[in-house]
Amino acid sequence: MSNSYLHFAIAQDAKDELRKFRAEFFKTDENLIYLDGNSLGKMPLSTIDVLKNTLEKEWGENLIRSWNKSWYTKNRAIGAKIAGLIGAKPEEIIVADSTSINIYKLAFAALQYRQGRTAIVSDELNFSTDLYVLQGLIAHQFKNHQLNIVASADAMSIQLDDLASAITHHTALVQLSHVAFKSGFMYSIDEVNKLIHHAGALDLWDLSHSVGAVPLELNRWNVSLAIGCTYKYLNGGPGSPAFLYVRKDLHEDLINPVSGWFGAAKPFNFSLEYEAASDISKFLSGTPSILALNALEVGIDMHLNAGKQNIRAKSLLLSQFLLHLFHQKLRKLNFELGSPEVDENRGSHISLKHPEARRICEALIQPDIGNHVVIPDFRSPDNIRIGLTPLYTSFQDIYYAVEELELIVKEKLYEKIQLDSNQVVT
Ligand SMILES: Cc1ncc(COP(=O)(O)O)c(C=O)c1O
Repeated sequence: MSNSYLHFAIAQDAKDELRKFRAEFFKTDENLIYLDGNSLGKMPLSTIDVLKNTLEKEWGENLIRSWNKSWYTKNRAIGAKIAGLIGAKPEEIIVADSTSINIYKLAFAALQYRQGRTAIVSDELNFSTDLYVLQGLIAHQFKNHQLNIVASADAMSIQLDDLASAITHHTALVQLSHVAFKSGFMYSIDEVNKLIHHAGALDLWDLSHSVGAVPLELNRWNVSLAIGCTYKYLNGGPGSPAFLYVRKDLHEDLINPVSGWFGAAKPFNFSLEYEAASDISKFLSGTPSILALNALEVGIDMHLNAGKQNIRAKSLLLSQFLLHLFHQKLRKLNFELGSPEVDENRGSHISLKHPEARRICEALIQPDIGNHVVIPDFRSPDNIRIGLTPLYTSFQDIYYAVEELELIVKEKLYEKIQLDSNQVVT
């Protein structure tokens, strides 16, 4: 590879205004290039101290007294911080449960609210859990409803016209991923919401692949409902709790189908009749994991510090560098682009397609193949997903990862890989 690309990467890293954040993450092997932060974000170093303090002081010393000191309001306090990342009001967001559970709660609430309409619209680029939850709601609770899954013409993106013709006055709910997990295709929420609202339906956006990577303006785009995961770009840690957003004017009318005591108006009255809280807390169900909530706060603070526009600006520069190297170096090695080329239509990961993607991906990860350990991930049938996480991905990471891809394909080093059929997580 021409060294001018390496010089370019070094120069870009030197003038990167977010470079100081890289040192704030746990140090891995110098030789390891991590490009899977869109799946599991890296661990911030201060998470260790925060968790130590939570264990020793908050739990160990203060014991149950910590519920009144800080724990009881944690779901809301961290939700209020996320509001700063997604352009919403602090009182519209709460952190609780998993993404899947939150989709269930809000989709149920929306279908109940739009009774009389029996169609749900989604698309075939959506994440499996989203579709499974919708299917489950139809199978067990909303038995007259149908799920209409809009097809993608190019297996990468959805045409607005195709979506528009699927949304009718029978549509109760449109549930979509803002950024598609495989291709990185990104909708314009603003444009799509106009279609949805014109038809009188509710929108429920999955922000898992955009929060912390793409600037979000939920209020400006008049988003009704949203959920998102926090263990990807937000670095909350494996299985960290998800968030949910409900636009203020819907708080009164929407119900929480999992009406547990944490969502009650006065949980410690222990009354025999459930009376829902009147604010966003009504979407809580049970006791949260405080260890997980405290760990999550670290990553959110880092993102607020970095600034969402700076994060997007760097994400685009990293993406453009990778796209340039793809055209110059990888296309001739039988790679194809599995993500949109246009910046406005793409989140912060890029999929590279190759007939040998699965074995190439494994070869990248193997320490005894090539010069670096490069960790992206594989999504069937043939995508190597490269996650660009602006707080810690460098331009040199991209340079060396592409160099490694070239080496593995040119020398056919992937032929050394015996795929392990017992390996579930790819
Ligand atoms: C778009 C999207 N939604 C939801 C999830 C996962 O949901 P949960 O955290 O409930 O497992 C993922 C996981 O990768 C995802 O990519």
